[in-house]
Amino acid sequence: MSEFVRICGKADLPPSGEAREVSTGERVLCVANEKGSISVMDNVCPHRGGPLGQGMIEGGKLICPWHAWAFDLRTGEAAHTTMARVPVYEVKVEGEDVLVKL
Ligand code: FES
Repeated sequence: MSEFVRICGKADLPPSGEAREVSTGERVLCVANEKGSISVMDNVCPHRGGPLGQGMIEGGKLICPWHAWAFDLRTGEAAHTTMARVPVYEVKVEGEDVLVKL
C-alpha cells in the first residue's frame, strides 16, 4: 500500500521554473516547480533513460535533457505520443517537509 514519505525539505525545492533530482532511499525522483506548483515524477525518461530532473520546464511540461521529449507535469504523458508516460506522484507540503505518495 502506498503512503506519503518525506523526500526533502521545503527549502530543498527547486526555484520556480526549474526541476531538480531528489534522492529518497534507493530512488531518484524529478521534482519540478512551475510557478510555485510542485510536481514529482520518476527521474528516468522512458525514451532512453535520460535524467528528467536535469531537464527544463516549458509550458507545463518537463523537457528531457537528452532528446527533448516533453512530459506533462500533471499527468506524465508524453506530448508526442500516448505510448509513453512517466509515473507522477501525489505531493504535499506539510510545514517544512515535502511528502510524496510512493
Ligand atoms: S532519453 Fe529522454 S528524450 Fe531521449
